[in-house]
Amino acid sequence: MNGKNGILRFLLLMILIYLHIDVITCDNVKKSVENDNREDNGDNDDSNVDSLDIPSDNETNNITCTRRQNSQMHEITAAKHKQFPFMAAIMSKQNEYLCSGSVVSNGLILTTATCTLLPTGYVLLNTTKGKNDETSVVLQVRKSEKYPTYTGSENDKNVGLLYTDKHNNSIASKIKLTNMSSVSSIVDFEGIGFGLNADVGQVKELQYVGMEHRSHYEPAEAMHAYFDCVETKVSTCYRDTGGPVIVNNELVGIVTKGQDDCTKEISSTYAINKKMADILPTFAFKAWLDEKIRKNEEQEQVSLATYPIKPDLRENIYKLTKSSEPLCHPPSLSVVIIMFVNLLLLL
Ligand SMILES: *[C@@H]1O[C@H](CO)[C@@H](O)[C@H](O)[C@H]1NC(C)=O
Ligand SMILES: *[C@@H]1O[C@H](CO)[C@@H](O)[C@H](O)[C@H]1NC(C)=O
Ligand SMILES: *[C@@H]1O[C@H](CO)[C@@H](O)[C@H](O)[C@H]1NC(C)=O
Ligand SMILES: *[C@@H]1O[C@H](CO)[C@@H](O)[C@H](O)[C@H]1NC(C)=O
Ligand SMILES: *[C@@H]1O[C@H](CO)[C@@H](O)[C@H](O)[C@H]1NC(C)=O
Repeated sequence: MNGKNGILRFLLLMILIYLHIDVITCDNVKKSVENDNREDNGDNDDSNVDSLDIPSDNETNNITCTRRQNSQMHEITAAKHKQFPFMAAIMSKQNEYLCSGSVVSNGLILTTATCTLLPTGYVLLNTTKGKNDETSVVLQVRKSEKYPTYTGSENDKNVGLLYTDKHNNSIASKIKLTNMSSVSSIVDFEGIGFGLNADVGQVKELQYVGMEHRSHYEPAEAMHAYFDCVETKVSTCYRDTGGPVIVNNELVGIVTKGQDDCTKEISSTYAINKKMADILPTFAFKAWLDEKIRKNEEQEQVSLATYPIKPDLRENIYKLTKSSEPLCHPPSLSVVIIMFVNLLLLL
């Protein structure tokens, strides 16, 4: 009797130990799977590019660049592929680059009225060059439209739209229009365009530049962009129009007039007040444009992601790593019961 009980207790102990070990190893496997998943999800954000180093050069007493302290100005920088996935290069039928535009809805490109009056042929998306190559997406221009009261005089609202072929949402994102009804709170902004400082005949690369806003009087129907007080060796000018000007990932205006004269070697010490561009603020045409976008989106079509969401990442964001297949099965209750019954039979 005692012997049998002893054996039974021993066997029960063994079973308990077995179950315990099994649970522990299962936990460990689960934990390491979770760790692996976490590493897979590491973010591949490449949009943090322009950290501006403000030189702390205080050996001279005649520094005139006091503005630079709180400004996001930065020199002309080449854009990376998909950094600004709403950018469009507007081309002539003869494959010449004409001006910049931005995708505001599927098949709707915002640019200047001046640009829509040029002999446009097609626009290029998915490109960092003002040139048709094998990776850029070509969309034919079907129709163009300028702001209703635009007649070409200096004070008219120089804004227009190109209607192109539609496309799917893996090609471009759209830019959101700011709802700011005044520009007085804008200190600085980013201008984006093709070949801002490219010489005639060079391929126009997509570039962006941080500029300062200096037209704080109200109501400002035009904003003026300046560049100043940043150590730069690249030639600095704005040889492009039609492109967007953005603040906090929203469109605050479009460049209606650039500046052909390039300045080299701007210093961080002395103010030079370089005028870069004239900008038509978004609020000046937002009601008109909202209506065009609304009409365009009434028709059933592919809607686009809104910048800063990148076009082709959207579907992948929530895709789960499929490695959560159970790698070990905790012993089921039935197995435990069978073992127990066997034990009783042994007695
Ligand atoms: C620069 O300024 C700091 C304090 O702002 C001061 O301690 C330092 O001596 C200055 N350097 C020169 C070269 O003037
Ligand atoms: C201060 O500025 C003047 C011109 O405004 C210039 O001639 C002079 O060299 C500057 N001083 C220094 C120490 O750079
Ligand atoms: C967009 O451009 C990238 C590289 O520049 C290329 O790999 C990709 O195939 C292009 N997408 C389309 C839809 O052409
Ligand atoms: C999106 O359009 C591009 C070019 O027209 C094409 O290459 C690509 O396969 C399309 N993608 C989807 C998901 O339909
Ligand atoms: C602008 O939009 C934001 C949200 O996108 C909202 O919080 C804000 O109240 C809006 N401002 C105006 C003036 O409509």
